This record gives sequence, structure tokens and C-alpha cells, in this order.
Amino acid sequence: MIEEIEELRRQALAEIAAAVELQALEELRVRHLGRRSRLREAMSQLGSLPADQRPALGATSGGAQKAIQEALDQRRATLIEAAEGGTALDVTLPGHRPLRGRLHPLNSLAEELSSIFQRLGFAVVDGPEMEDEYHNFDALNTPADHPARDLHATFYLEGGGLLRTHTSTVQIRIMETTPPPVRVVAPGRCYRRDTVDATHHFVFHQIEGLYVDRHVSMADLKGTIEAMGRQLLGPQTKVRFRPHFFPFTEPSVEYDFSCSLCRGEGRGCRVCKGTGWVEISGAGMVDPAVFAAVGYDPERYTGFAFGAGIDRIAMIRYGIDDIRLFLESDLRFTRQF
Ligand code: PHE
Repeated sequence: MIEEIEELRRQALAEIAAAVELQALEELRVRHLGRRSRLREAMSQLGSLPADQRPALGATSGGAQKAIQEALDQRRATLIEAAEGGTALDVTLPGHRPLRGRLHPLNSLAEELSSIFQRLGFAVVDGPEMEDEYHNFDALNTPADHPARDLHATFYLEGGGLLRTHTSTVQIRIMETTPPPVRVVAPGRCYRRDTVDATHHFVFHQIEGLYVDRHVSMADLKGTIEAMGRQLLGPQTKVRFRPHFFPFTEPSVEYDFSCSLCRGEGRGCRVCKGTGWVEISGAGMVDPAVFAAVGYDPERYTGFAFGAGIDRIAMIRYGIDDIRLFLESDLRFTRQF
């Protein structure tokens, strides 16, 4: 009899462990612990057994009853928890949406800029972020005593080299390897040792443009910049050119777009600080000294070059007043675009 009860116990525990529905669990309870179960029957016969057999059988059947009850309780809790946690299969529940990745707002703006220039006939090219002084400064007619070469603005690398401080390096790399005419844009990351605040970061993004051919003029530059502004910020966008200096262009300008947020009206606008204009970057006609560095004939060819601050364009376009948001990888921010 003792063996029979132990066998009953093993069987009951196995069945309980295999039960996947509460209903089945209840049926097992009735079958194994109910009034008409074999276990109860055995227990009810205890009294009629000889006294010396009673304790052993009593202990075995009592232990079995306790173990089965505990197994039922535990299994029941597990099944309820699974059902509430949604892990039990309910084919009527809506499916889990897979997380979809997307481009960072600065990357998608860089792509948009690239395609604007592609439509104007520019090819999209790339250059290294780790550069040498020659491509970042010397070939761009920036002598060693120029303030831009000051240690405070440039990250110099151990063992020589530096992190490019602008995308103008790509002008040189392209002209070194391509005979004129060239018409390219180069988007990418740049680095400067700036103190980080709402409008400055040590990493920022530019897109460089370069167009060299016979008879390229300042008018071509103005038309190209204007086309960029209108396609980016709308057909009402105005462009303003201000005289400026860059070592690698002559004449040089800085250019502004009319503010797309307040439509150039200023008055309390937080994006243009009330001026109606937003500074984008610099541009100009390629300096003959740059042509000399890459072996282009300055008597035969002219060209224009421009930069555009991608972070800055993104800030005016989306009305963002803190450049740091772009680099913090906070999904609450980047998901909004
Ligand atoms: N490289 C300049 C800068 O980073 C911008 C520029 C590009 C100016 C091309 C003129 C021509 O500020």
C-alpha cells in the first residue's frame, strides 16, 4: 500500500506540472485529493489497519496529500501570473510592434542637402575626419601664424595629425585627385576645441560645396546658395551676403538666411534673436593660392566654395535652441523628427 501511495504521488505531481489550464488543474485536484480519490480512500482505511502499520502509512499518505496540495497551489499561481503577464498565448491580442530605426535628424538633413545639390549637378563626396595640417590649413592658404591654427581651436592628435576643423579639407583632397571641372559637395563631422554651450559643441556638422570650371562667377555662387535656402526653408527665403575674410577664398562672404520661424520679422523670435536673419556659414571665390597648391591653373579656371552648418540649419528649421540635444542620443528628442 505504501508503494501504491508513493506511485500515486509521483503521478499526481507529474500531471500537475504538465497542466496548462486552470480548468485542468481543478480536475486534477478532484481526482487526486477529492473525496472519492484513491488517496482519501487509503486514508479512510487507516483505522482498520493493525496498529503497528498505521504510523508508516499515515505518514506516507499525509505527506503525499500535502505535496500534491502544494504543487496544485504553486501551479495555479504560475498559470495565473502567466495569463496576467500576457505570456500565455492569446491570438486576439494586438501584436508587438517591432522597434523601427530611423535616421538621426542631422543625418536626414545632410541627406536632404546632398540631394538638393545633386539636382543642381553636384556629386556627393567624402573625406577623412582625421586629417593632417596640410589639408586642413596649409593647402587652404592658412599660414602657421593664423589664429585658426591656434591650439585652442584645433584638436591635435598624438603622433601628428588633427581632427579636421572644417570640411574645406575635402576641397583639397578632391582637387588633388580630379582634374577640373569639379562640382562636389561633402557633408561630414568637424571638430573644434570650443567650450560646449547651447550654440557651440566640439563636434558639429558641415556640408562643403566646391565648383570649379571656366567662367564660374560670384553670381553662380549667389544663385546656388539661394537655391539651397529656398529648397530648404521655403520659396520666400531671402539670402544676405556680408563681406568677410577666409584665407582660402577671395572675395569672401558670410551668408545668412531670413529666419524661417518668424518669416524675417524678428520681434522676440528666439531662433534669430529678433534680427530676422540666421547666420549659416561662409563662402567665396576660390583663392588662386589654393589652386596653386593643387596644381590647377588659376589663369584658366575660377571657382566658388561654400560651407553650411548642418546643425545650425537644423536648429532654425525645427526651432531648437540647444545644439547639445543633437548629440545626446536621447530618444525622446530624436524620435520627434
Ligand atoms: N570652412 C569655413 C568655415 O568652417 C567655411 C567656408 C567654406 C568658407 C568654404 C569659405 C568657403 O568656417
